[in-house]
Amino acid sequence: MKKNQISTTAMGIAAMRAIESERPAGQRICYDPYARRFAGPIFYYLARLFSGYGEKRAPGVQGFIVCRCRYFDDYLQAWFEAGADQVVILGAGLDSRAYRGELQRRATRVFEVDSPATQAGKMKRVKALFGALPPNVTYVSIDFNEETLDKLRACGYDPALKTLFLWEGVSYYLNAEAVDATLVWVRSNSASGSAIIFDYLYTAALTSQRQRGEIKRMQRYSGVTGEKLVFGIERGKIEDFLNRRGFTHVVDANAAWIKSLYCTGPNQGRAVAEVYAIVHAEVE
Ligand SMILES: C[S@@+](CC[C@H](N)C(=O)[O-])C[C@H]1O[C@@H](n2cnc3c(N)ncnc32)[C@H](O)[C@@H]1O
Repeated sequence: MKKNQISTTAMGIAAMRAIESERPAGQRICYDPYARRFAGPIFYYLARLFSGYGEKRAPGVQGFIVCRCRYFDDYLQAWFEAGADQVVILGAGLDSRAYRGELQRRATRVFEVDSPATQAGKMKRVKALFGALPPNVTYVSIDFNEETLDKLRACGYDPALKTLFLWEGVSYYLNAEAVDATLVWVRSNSASGSAIIFDYLYTAALTSQRQRGEIKRMQRYSGVTGEKLVFGIERGKIEDFLNRRGFTHVVDANAAWIKSLYCTGPNQGRAVAEVYAIVHAEVE
């Protein structure tokens, strides 16, 4: 992440969500009505232009990203039905969940956490789209690699409430200490029954001699984007990893499972990259 610019991966991901959202209602896997405006025209048109090429060079990445968005949306929905008091979106980027669906309808207290430059860019877009920043959303800027989440408390976060932490598309950009510090903070500063959902990369994808196209490209261009893939978790080790950090009820959703959930009917032939997985866990 570059300190002085809005995250390029946040814009790229928003562009992919925008393209998926423009598919007919019965065919799209995820739906984000604001993604195109958030991504901006350059990223949107570049993503459109290179979508086919991208799929050839990095099969299943687009599939994983749209399925991930849907999985997080479904998890958020289920969690609401069980009762949610407060939501924290870690590395929020251009995530629009605070401005649509259940979070917007219920005006739930939402904290969006990201780097100062990305957050400034996001707030500008939110104001342009909605006229003002919604009163239920608090923007907290931190660098995960350099600070803990303590700033959340100073910004009105209530540790006594049952909280859902969404951490989508972020863990692999952080160093191991930052991932640890974030998980420890969540476990120590949230009420029983709180939960975290995040996606992660298998370590082998980073260390393998024959790296996938998108991993090689992300690393090659990390000097320009400031976003390098550095963190992974060994396949099969996530439950132990989270148990050791005090989390329970760990559910690990791998690519095959995610594909079986969403790549059905017209999406049956879509690939979902196998080097990523989604996990959720609870605070006891
Ligand atoms: C791939 S984007 C995902 C954005 C959003 N969660 C989504 O799914 O659309 C990664 C996000 O993590 C943020 N990020 C990466 N490293 C960070 C760090 N060290 N501190 C704070 N935010 C960071 C970036 O600014 C960016 O918004």
